[in-house]
Amino acid sequence: MRERLVISVSGKGGVGKTTTSALLTRILTEKTKRSLLVVDADPVMNLPRALGVEVSSTVGEIATKLRENIDEGSISRAVTKQDILEGEIYESLVEGDLYDFLAMGRTEGEGCYCYVNRLLTQILDTLSKNYDFTLLDMSAGLEHLSRRTDRNVDILIIVVDSSRAAYEAALRIRDLAKEVHIDFKKVVVIANRFPPGMEDELATRLEEQGIFFGGMIPNDDELAKLNYLGAPLTELPEDSPAVQAVEKISEKLGLLSDVTLMKLLGTGT
Ligand SMILES: Nc1ncnc2c1ncn2[C@@H]1O[C@H](COP(=O)(O)OP(=O)(O)OP(=O)(O)O)[C@@H](O)[C@H]1O
Ligand SMILES: [Mg+2]
Repeated sequence: MRERLVISVSGKGGVGKTTTSALLTRILTEKTKRSLLVVDADPVMNLPRALGVEVSSTVGEIATKLRENIDEGSISRAVTKQDILEGEIYESLVEGDLYDFLAMGRTEGEGCYCYVNRLLTQILDTLSKNYDFTLLDMSAGLEHLSRRTDRNVDILIIVVDSSRAAYEAALRIRDLAKEVHIDFKKVVVIANRFPPGMEDELATRLEEQGIFFGGMIPNDDELAKLNYLGAPLTELPEDSPAVQAVEKISEKLGLLSDVTLMKLLGTGT
């Protein structure tokens, strides 16, 4: 399979986006042989710790440096900035045995960053073509949608906890994506830390909204402990409830087999 699949993980603040991204990274590397690029698109950058990845520089830092150099006049405006950025981006790519990792970070300074953000989105598009899977852990706000950072995403995963606000944020994300004309192949809700027994109720409610229900990730004490200790989620045992749940969800989404993946890429929702 040479088609690429881009998956983003969105949702209200604190619902479990980074946790879900880290667990998906683990399952995709353990259960498939595909190449994977993991991107922390949240400037707060919690994903490196959840994965145990050391990050030395971010895309945002490189873009800021480039901007400063242009402002100081040490780089001619005639040189194409995309070339410079693209070349330097590889400096911040962490190449691992199981997957590669890129932290977007944030750009600093004053003024409008529309231009830099547009460049970053273009570079991400180029880079993700080298991988079977690209997984993006998004920030809690909705700016990434209006900026269209998600425009090439195939599967939009929205994580919700059992709060009403998280559910409403999920609908808002779905609607905003439509408004800005981002056409996902699939919109999926994953329910994290719901009280047991609510699965059917939620599945029905989502179905009425035309949203695919990916499944539940239970509250997992071992996971909470690792987070408290600042240890990566790769240390969770294979039979931990959260790991098992994310494997089941990945299977349901069709990510773990060639046949279902082709169907997903070819036929849409
Ligand atoms: N299933 C779970 N079991 C136990 N703890 C969890 C679970 N899911 C998330 N947590 C904990 O809840 C907290 C928030 O989770 P996480 O950082 O994944 O959310 P987030 O949506 O990425 O937050 P932010 O909006 O700040 O990026 C973390 O301390 C995490 O360890
Ligand atoms: Mg997060």
